[in-house]
Amino acid sequence: MQVEKEFFFQDECENDGINVRIPEIVDPQYGMFTWPAAPVLAHFIWKNKEHFKGKQVIEVEYYSKSASKFDKEEYPQCLENCQRSCDVNGQKSIKVMGITWGQFTPNLFKLPKVDIILGSDCFYDTKDFDDILATVSFLIEKNTEAKFWTTYQERSSSRSIENLLKKWGLRGVEIPLEHFNADEVNIGGSHLSDSHTIHMLEITTQQAVQDAPK
Ligand SMILES: C[S@@+](CC[C@H](N)C(=O)[O-])C[C@H]1O[C@@H](n2cnc3c(N)ncnc32)[C@H](O)[C@@H]1O
Repeated sequence: MQVEKEFFFQDECENDGINVRIPEIVDPQYGMFTWPAAPVLAHFIWKNKEHFKGKQVIEVEYYSKSASKFDKEEYPQCLENCQRSCDVNGQKSIKVMGITWGQFTPNLFKLPKVDIILGSDCFYDTKDFDDILATVSFLIEKNTEAKFWTTYQERSSSRSIENLLKKWGLRGVEIPLEHFNADEVNIGGSHLSDSHTIHMLEITTQQAVQDAPK
């Protein structure tokens, strides 16, 4: 069954805003619908839109309107849904392609040097954490100034990526939600994130000078 969610992000003075439509399919594959961490990442992007101007951006799995989008190569329906989401939002220039975390396939090598990597709720299944950071570290090695901005939902306080970040020469710094006014209810005009604890991380190389946007 196909449904659609709609989100709305606007400036405090309400002069400028954006509507994002996300077609969803009620399906057990978890890339087919929007998760609570996604509106928080979208809100961060909206608040920091100046940082994205002229930058090469990719998003691993889909949500935003402004980046190239990726989902697992073996999930063609997820990729089709990513494409549908670009189409309904009139985003013709966005490329959708499959990459699978931890796999060094031709699609991964085809990617240009990127400045910003986005990912909402990719730290979902602990068995994937090492593979995600392998892919992120590969992308960041091509541009050591690159940043991976990611939101995730707290599912267990015992989960940690600290050791894996060290293994891949990366560093993660938490960006508190209150820094970009996402510690409120009704983010993006939706109650999806309200009753969940969401965190936001900036992941860079260990050498990168931290200058996280607020
Ligand atoms: C919890 S969902 C989050 C979806 C979306 N980003 C959101 O926040 O609404 C996790 C996503 O990871 C993708 N995924 C799962 N395993 C993967 C893998 N090994 N490589 C690449 N993507 C994967 C799924 O297809 C799904 O889109």
